[in-house]
Amino acid sequence: MQIDLSGRTALVTGSTSGIGYAIASTLAGAGATVVVNGRSPASVDAAVERLLAERPRASVRGVDADVTQSDGVDRMLEAVPAVDILVNNLGIFGAKPALEITDDDWQRYFDTNVLSAVRLIRSYLPGMIEAGWGRVIDIASDSAVVIPAEMIHYGVSKTALLAVSRGFAKAAAGTGVTVNSVIAGPTHTGGVEDFVYELVDRELPWNEAQREFMRLHRPQSLLQRLIEPEEIANMVAYLASPLASATTGGALRVDGGYVDSILP
Ligand SMILES: NC(=O)c1ccc[n+]([C@@H]2O[C@H](COP(=O)([O-])OP(=O)(O)OC[C@H]3O[C@@H](n4cnc5c(N)ncnc54)[C@H](OP(=O)(O)O)[C@@H]3O)[C@@H](O)[C@H]2O)c1
Repeated sequence: MQIDLSGRTALVTGSTSGIGYAIASTLAGAGATVVVNGRSPASVDAAVERLLAERPRASVRGVDADVTQSDGVDRMLEAVPAVDILVNNLGIFGAKPALEITDDDWQRYFDTNVLSAVRLIRSYLPGMIEAGWGRVIDIASDSAVVIPAEMIHYGVSKTALLAVSRGFAKAAAGTGVTVNSVIAGPTHTGGVEDFVYELVDRELPWNEAQREFMRLHRPQSLLQRLIEPEEIANMVAYLASPLASATTGGALRVDGGYVDSILP
């Protein structure tokens, strides 16, 4: 199978680092013109520079805009009025005991992890429908399905995001536009190594350390290691491609088998 995204424009929110950067890089590698997004000009410029260094032939541009705010979405729409592929990757997470999560915390998680995706889908979906082709991919989490006791606000926001994907897939029914979510599992992103070494023997080399971490703290994982961001990006690239034309309204797992379920 050849994944060819040439001629398509893709926006990946929150893509100056982590999973978002890997998605941006993979889509660019498949030929898409990619819009890299973050909040500051400095982080966006650095990511664009990094991507071009890794893929000199890539077509990439950066837009600094805080897309969790409506004026940030306006700024994005002004810079990029239409896209063929929208990847709502941006999301925040953090641990807090359930009874200590305040109204403000709940609101912030909803605004960042759910409403920002809804606003962008509402902005870009009509153009995709009019064009008769488009892809929306929302990055959810195993926490959407296995609500973590230590971050129910995060889990609930990702459950809502699954519903958002399913709902907008219905709004796009029969149009050639697909809307799906990807359930990402525990992933090797920035900061995760420090986190792992807080919980396992600091003397262990990284590969052993991450396996020990998974064995002790994420025993449900069938992969028994962290997922690399590129492994999530590969699923996104497939979903973004014409090859995935019959997959819509779905939640596709790249969770290393973390969610203990036969059904996706
Ligand atoms: N990491 C995991 O193990 C894991 C597991 C399951 C699901 N996920 C999901 O995968 C997605 C990406 O996770 P990640 O770990 O890669 O995240 P991350 O490393 O925290 O990603 C940070 C990215 O988000 C950008 N960002 C943050 N707030 C922003 C805002 N308001 N507007 C625009 N950009 C913003 C940052 O850009 P600047 O700093 O340049 O602004 C940076 O590019 C999230 O939805 C997360 O819930 C992650």
